[in-house]
Amino acid sequence: MNWRTRLTELLDCKYPIMEGAFAGIGTWEFAAAVSKTGAVGCLTASTSKTPEGLREEIQKLRKATKNPFTVNISIGLCPHIDGMFEACFEEDVPAIETAGFRPDEYAERINESGITWIHKGATVEFCKHAEKLGADAVVLVGLDGYGFKNIKQLPTFTSIAWAAPQLNVPIIAAGGIGDPRTFLGALFLGADGIYLGTALMATKECPLSDKIKENIVKAQPNHPDLIRELLAPPIPKDFAEVLKKRDTVSLEEWLISMEKVMLKHPDWKDVDPTYIQQLLIGRGSEIVELFPSLGTRPKGPFSFACGYIDRIITVKELIENLVKGAEEILKRKSEEWELP
Ligand SMILES: Cc1cc2nc3c(=O)[nH]c(=O)nc-3n(C[C@H](O)[C@H](O)[C@H](O)COP(=O)(O)O)c2cc1C
Repeated sequence: MNWRTRLTELLDCKYPIMEGAFAGIGTWEFAAAVSKTGAVGCLTASTSKTPEGLREEIQKLRKATKNPFTVNISIGLCPHIDGMFEACFEEDVPAIETAGFRPDEYAERINESGITWIHKGATVEFCKHAEKLGADAVVLVGLDGYGFKNIKQLPTFTSIAWAAPQLNVPIIAAGGIGDPRTFLGALFLGADGIYLGTALMATKECPLSDKIKENIVKAQPNHPDLIRELLAPPIPKDFAEVLKKRDTVSLEEWLISMEKVMLKHPDWKDVDPTYIQQLLIGRGSEIVELFPSLGTRPKGPFSFACGYIDRIITVKELIENLVKGAEEILKRKSEEWELP
């Protein structure tokens, strides 16, 4: 089947599937494994630590595959940010993906470079703003995904369906996607492609420890702690305080406090329970105490997409399973529906 969408046309890739950004593990080897399948690999600039390191990663990735890839630069979170952009411009990468905080400061330079620009945002407003600044496509991440949360963020499928008529540029759906049904579901809701974080982490090529991969295989999406962790947005007061601290401490120190507020690590019980109770019915740890068979949630960074992972496979197998599975569903549906 021809998987042509506005995203495959924009990036000149075979499948409308993108690798997510992974601070620390978004290496050229991992990105090459993804790009070789016909999906789009992603180099995460912060993984290379320096602009020189990023340049080397880009060159190695290019030697490994001629297929397109993106470079993620997470604004406000990635070190040496100006140098990272320069490295991308000089290497004339196929696409730059900005994420994190507002991209306004860099918009003009990205537009002038002529490089395809994708911005990842957590809300429809941020995506519309990026479109106005000149982004060629947007990744819209819903609450179902792993990562920093925004107080106005919606669940993935609500976000996509709501955003689709409001945006003109292609939309890539992110958050909790990882099987043929969620792949097709996102496209039917109006997305032009999907974005995989968790689903790619339990692959053989992902440079994560085997222990974490096994935890992802074991994990269930309906664990109360995971539900609480993913769906509860940060407390506005704590979020405002951590933002104020940005220029007073080192980036590393600040990121730790930011993660604590945004990801509610290391233990969400630190978070004011009265606030949580307003947001969710019940409290995860109390439920675990009442039903000890639930146990604590397996450790590791992952989202509801853990529910689609039952073994550690190769990147190629994952992409093939997604594509073939989706094609089978489409075939079955087209027979059932007897389209005119
Ligand atoms: C280990 C890990 C590191 C991540 N690092 C970044 C990052 O540096 N920049 C970024 O924009 N997103 C980062 N993300 C978020 C993912 O790119 C993606 O938005 C998210 O995983 C999508 O949700 P999913 O896991 O349900 O697919 C990270 C996710 C994980 C799991």
